[in-house]
Amino acid sequence: MKVLMINGSPHAKGNTYVALREVAGELEKNGIDSEIISIGAKAVQGCIACGKCAELGRCVFNDTLYDKVRTALQTADAIVIGSPVYYAGPNGSLCALLDRLFYSASDLMQYKPAAAVAVCRRSGGSATLDRLNKYFTITNMPVVSSQYWNIVHGRTPGEASQDAEGLQTMRTLGRNMAWMLKNMEDGRHPAPTPEPRVMTNFIR
Ligand SMILES: Cc1cc2nc3c(=O)[nH]c(=O)nc-3n(C[C@H](O)[C@H](O)[C@H](O)COP(=O)(O)O)c2cc1C
Repeated sequence: MKVLMINGSPHAKGNTYVALREVAGELEKNGIDSEIISIGAKAVQGCIACGKCAELGRCVFNDTLYDKVRTALQTADAIVIGSPVYYAGPNGSLCALLDRLFYSASDLMQYKPAAAVAVCRRSGGSATLDRLNKYFTITNMPVVSSQYWNIVHGRTPGEASQDAEGLQTMRTLGRNMAWMLKNMEDGRHPAPTPEPRVMTNFIR
């Protein structure tokens, strides 16, 4: 089994990556592969509402990023979308890609478990999750949850590795996703054992 992760940050190895890697580590422990595709720092084409995808079965634009994600979706069993928080929402470049992807390739995502992850310095994480979860819940995708909302805190690239509670939330998300995927296969796996709870308060 394989989980496709999209890193919606222009920083290939920034905080969003740190968060996604934590999910990936837990999936790997449960025997599930993952692949992280970064959207990168180049301009991303948005949807121009031409409707051509209804004819073509794919977006009319064949940029490398869209093609790469679309191809990876064909063999993915689940999806995790991570984004840095920009003005209390997901990165606009990520939404440009997701609008085209969900409009033109929803058949490759239907009924696959999905989760969103938001990474921020301070605030706007839950509004970002809300926006990203909307893609899943209009596409018949079961949304995988964790012990807390899927938000990790950090500002400069790498700082997120200090958010112990956020990272625990990511590991729990990975375990819950593995549990759901395995149960979708044979329906025989008991609920995962939770870790002892970590609390990372901002002001000590
Ligand atoms: C344009 C821009 C807008 C941002 N807006 C917010 C915000 O609304 N709330 C917040 O807490 N952090 C905000 N940030 C900080 C980033 O979310 C934070 O630095 C995050 O860790 C970046 O993740 P990355 O390393 O994966 O790129 C903003 C950063 C940028 C560049």
